[in-house]
Formats: sequence, C-alpha cells, structure tokens
Amino acid sequence: MASGLIGLGRMVEPQELLGWIRVVLGRQGALSGRPVVVSAGGTREAIDPVRFVGNHSSGRQGFALAQAAIDRGAGVTLVAAAAALATPVGAKRIDVESAQEMHDAVLEACRRADALIMAAAVADFRPERTVDQKIKTKDTPDLDLRLVRTTDILQAVKRQRDATKLPKVVIGFAAETRDLIENARAKLDSKGLDLIVANDVSAKDAGFAVDTNRVTLLDAGGGVESLPVMSKAQVAERVMDRLVALLRG
Ligand code: CTP
Repeated sequence: MASGLIGLGRMVEPQELLGWIRVVLGRQGALSGRPVVVSAGGTREAIDPVRFVGNHSSGRQGFALAQAAIDRGAGVTLVAAAAALATPVGAKRIDVESAQEMHDAVLEACRRADALIMAAAVADFRPERTVDQKIKTKDTPDLDLRLVRTTDILQAVKRQRDATKLPKVVIGFAAETRDLIENARAKLDSKGLDLIVANDVSAKDAGFAVDTNRVTLLDAGGGVESLPVMSKAQVAERVMDRLVALLRG
C-alpha cells in the first residue's frame, strides 16, 4: 500500500491471526525456548482396512495443553491420534493412528524434550492380527477377536529417560471410573511420573468429548490438589503452572 499499488487483499482468518499473536506474546513466557511434547486423542487399532478398536477421546484436553504450552513460549510437538481439531498455531503436529505409531513418535520426540505431557487415551489392547482385506459378512457370521496388549508408552519413556535424563518432567493422565485417587497414585508410582492428572471419566462434566473437566493433580511428593469443574483450557493453565514449577525444580 505504501508503494501506491492497489489490489484486492485478503486478511488471514481471525483464528489464525490470534494464534500467531499468541505465539509472539508467548516468547517472553516461562517455557520460552523449551521443547515440550504433548500427546492427544485416542489411538485406533485396526481390525481390517475399515474397522478398528478405539475409544471416546476427542483430543480436546491434549490440544488445550498444547495451546497453553505455546502461550508460555514452549516449542510444542503435538502427537495426535484421531483428533479432528485444528492444530494450535506454532505446534509441530505429528498425526498417528495406532498405539505403536504413537509410541514411536513420542519416544523419538522425547529425545530432545524438556517435558512430556501424555494426555492421549492410548489403546491398551489391539487385535492380535490385522487383515489386509475387508472382512466380508457373508463369510463371517460371527467374529471372534483376540486382543493382545499394546506397549505401555510411559513405561518405555521411563526406560529411555533413565539413559538420556530427558524429558526432565513427565506428566501423565489417569482415566478412572472408580477409586480415582488410589488408582492414579499407583499409576504415578509405577510409570515414574512427576505429576498425574486424574480424571473421573464416568462424570458428565468431565472426561471424554465435553468442554469441561474436573481433575485432581497428584504429585510425586504426595501432594493432592482437587480442582473444581473448569474448562479444559483452564485445566491446561493449572497443569502449566505445575510444569513450570517442576522445571524450576
Ligand atoms: N498410557 C501409555 N501407554 C499405554 C496406555 C496408557 O503411555 N499403552 C498412558 C496414558 O497416556 C496416560 C497413562 O498412561 O497418561 C494412564 O493411562 P490409563 O488409560 O488411565 O491407564 P492404564 O495404564 O492404561 O491402566 P488401566 O487401563 O488399567 O487403568
């Protein structure tokens, strides 16, 4: 315009513009320059080319965590499984399908990460075999599916971390339908976590595919902080506060 040229222009979408503003404002943040890996969504384990074993995760809490980390200046790698959500501006997104693909992507990204936040709902079981062609109903009146265990990604991260000392901080989630605190504490211990975000997924205002969440934060020092119902973006802010404190040691 300054040169006197005239033509039709188009503003970038307001959502994207806002995203870039957040990236720029975040540069002064407490996580500035820190590589952070966030996993989100629910993995899918193929039965055949059209069918899979999956779960109800929408990815919303994980994407909110990725955005909150960007807001504080982190360089975010977002490992996403079956999440139909817009990528937060500034995040490096890696789309994966199965638990094995998520395992490979998370372990690779963790080699250079200061923190991992494992918000994804990873399938614990996958079909023992996947067939190449669609299973036809006329040949298959009933179908027996044998499911075998997938690799526990956080256990693999724990082993890699013993050798590399990275990530410095590992935060997990616990999706429970009963005995929330006891089960979450057991997961925190066995998976070697610094913090676990415990989630009662049977509650209507928490967990899968809603915009709100009600979580309890348990830390390795024995601390328990129960948060009221809040938006997933607000939960993400609280988790970031804890992450910043953990990185400060
Ligand atoms: N997780 C993982 N790898 C798996 C399964 C889960 O890394 N194969 C991670 C999840 O991302 C989450 C944490 O482990 O951060 C706890 O997941 P959850 O499903 O609550 O617990 P499980 O370990 O699967 O135990 P269970 O299903 O018996 O409750």
